Amino acid sequence: MSASSLPQHCPTPVELDDLELLLSGALAPLTGFNEPGSVVTLTLPPALATLDAVELVDPEGLPLALVSLVEERAPASVSKPLKISPLAHAQFGPFRSLYLTPAQVREQYAGRTFVPVTDALTVGQLEELADLGPVVLLALAGTGTPTLSSVGLIRATLAAADHLPDAAVVVVPLAAHGDPAADHDLGVQVVGNYAQGDPVTGLTSVAADDPQADYPEDVAEIVDFDRPGPGKQGLVLFFTGLSGSGKSTLARALMDKVLEQGERTVTSLDGDVVRRNLSAGLTFSKADRETNIRRIGWVAAEIARHGGVAIVSPIAPFDETRQQVREMVEQAGGEFFLVHVATPLEECERRDRKGLYAKARRGEIPEFTGISSPYEEPTDATVRVDTTGRSIEDALDDVLVALAKTGHLDLTDSSPVEPSLVEEVAKPSLVEEVAKQPSQNQDEAEAPVETGVARPPQGAIKVLFVCTANICRSAFMEVTARHLAGDRTDIEFSSAGTHGFKDHALDEGMAAVLAAGVSHDDFTSRPVTRELIEGADVVLTAESTHRTFLLEEHPQAFRKVFTLAQFAEAAEASDLRGRDLIKSLGRQRGAARHEHDIADPYRRGPQASSEAAQRITGLLQTVIPALTGETH
Ligand code: ADX
Repeated sequence: MSASSLPQHCPTPVELDDLELLLSGALAPLTGFNEPGSVVTLTLPPALATLDAVELVDPEGLPLALVSLVEERAPASVSKPLKISPLAHAQFGPFRSLYLTPAQVREQYAGRTFVPVTDALTVGQLEELADLGPVVLLALAGTGTPTLSSVGLIRATLAAADHLPDAAVVVVPLAAHGDPAADHDLGVQVVGNYAQGDPVTGLTSVAADDPQADYPEDVAEIVDFDRPGPGKQGLVLFFTGLSGSGKSTLARALMDKVLEQGERTVTSLDGDVVRRNLSAGLTFSKADRETNIRRIGWVAAEIARHGGVAIVSPIAPFDETRQQVREMVEQAGGEFFLVHVATPLEECERRDRKGLYAKARRGEIPEFTGISSPYEEPTDATVRVDTTGRSIEDALDDVLVALAKTGHLDLTDSSPVEPSLVEEVAKPSLVEEVAKQPSQNQDEAEAPVETGVARPPQGAIKVLFVCTANICRSAFMEVTARHLAGDRTDIEFSSAGTHGFKDHALDEGMAAVLAAGVSHDDFTSRPVTRELIEGADVVLTAESTHRTFLLEEHPQAFRKVFTLAQFAEAAEASDLRGRDLIKSLGRQRGAARHEHDIADPYRRGPQASSEAAQRITGLLQTVIPALTGETH
């Protein structure tokens, strides 16, 4: 609520007996409630001290109440009695019809016993109340309700009322102000206004958050829905750290674990992906970074509100913004779990996977975190992981152990299949059997193979090649691969571009360097889509940047996306073939290196086209036999 100066309304004044307001601070949030004797403090700047009235508005500027300075003018620092006139009545909000004024309560319920309620009623408390005759349960709903949301409290109170012989429920808005003594005083006063001369009975208190609290079954269900236990509570796993520290990699690996366990819904909000979508257009200035993180926080908090798991991995260099996210998540009823990926700057810079540190050092990227913009190390992280010299699995273990300790999510035991077991089942000979049974008919190809080991049905291995525009490198890969595979039907090739356009032909320069007999007449370009990635068994890209691009948009595909040269190198070093090779390489998840990149020949002349063609053809001559199971 804010105060603004607009003394033009002529409402009917409503006097609030003992409530004093000391006003100061135009359009400042009303915060203080800390003086003895139920005093609300609002700080007004001196300029407003000469006004006759101020208007209280909600955060969107809607007028709520007019506060008149009815007594003689006094300095702004002195308390003075005021009149408050309501300007608007709340029309919306759940259970609005149960919000009655003291006058309405007098009219309908005079003579009853009044019982203030701030939490769900237990069986024991209901037994105490059963003997009191007709009661009014005054649900004191507000932002300070200790264990339940406002609506949860009202629902629980209505359910409890059904267990009593004669109980009415009235809702009283009463926000807490962070000062238990003052809150208590105000509560007493407000309840007194509703009860007037009628008896008021307090309830025997139950320890807040007492897991043993014995609620009637219907009340227990409401409490559980409103404040789910740790296993169902929304969870925000927030990875912060420098660029290149391993945040996204750890976050992705963690996401896999959550998906593999299959008990929670999960959303990834990776820094780079958010930058391309939710925060497109924002810069790396301090203000824009704060906006970026607050947006992530807002979305993550909403996910948590619905009991989901959000895994977020921005740099988030500023402590204050991280705290704001923590607060948003907690207010939404979620648990905030902060992981500091504390890989030192030197190591991040040594890795420099995106080449950004080098550029930042050369002054080509301004305000680069760690170089020319600060990173404030968190002091409130639940776990701190330095990934230097460690495998992903090893570093992730630290996170999983800390997470399990919170009681919210135990993924420490969730590896679905021991790698050694997979090797065991996936003997190359079995795969070769599958691969060597070419069939014109999909159904036939998918018929189970008699191996004694249950295997899922598998058709032809589907290979998707990806480059930027899908007119040079990946297009050349597709048509050449098809040519090399000849009339095999156990492998299929397609291609697409990260920024591809529809229906362009193979680039002329690349067409000119195709081997004799390779046809490209049927080829047309297209942009990569989720369906294409999902439909592929393996995705082979021209450069590591394509791989990064795909994985940022489709993190779930990270076990099957490689650069072509990375896959060829790993295939040469492995005895496995076909799907087993893909599976095995997916588990190793080695990083693609820049030397694996096949340079873009587009518009760089015949020499560049010829070099790209030779390199691609050589790599395909390794990759295709490895995928089809032919012996080298
Ligand atoms: S944050 O500071 O707002 O949290 P965010 O995680 O979204 O950053 O984006 C960081 C990513 O943007 C880095 O991984 C890096 O790839 C890229 N980037 C581009 N410019 C900068 C910069 N000036 N500082 C840090 N990262 C940058």
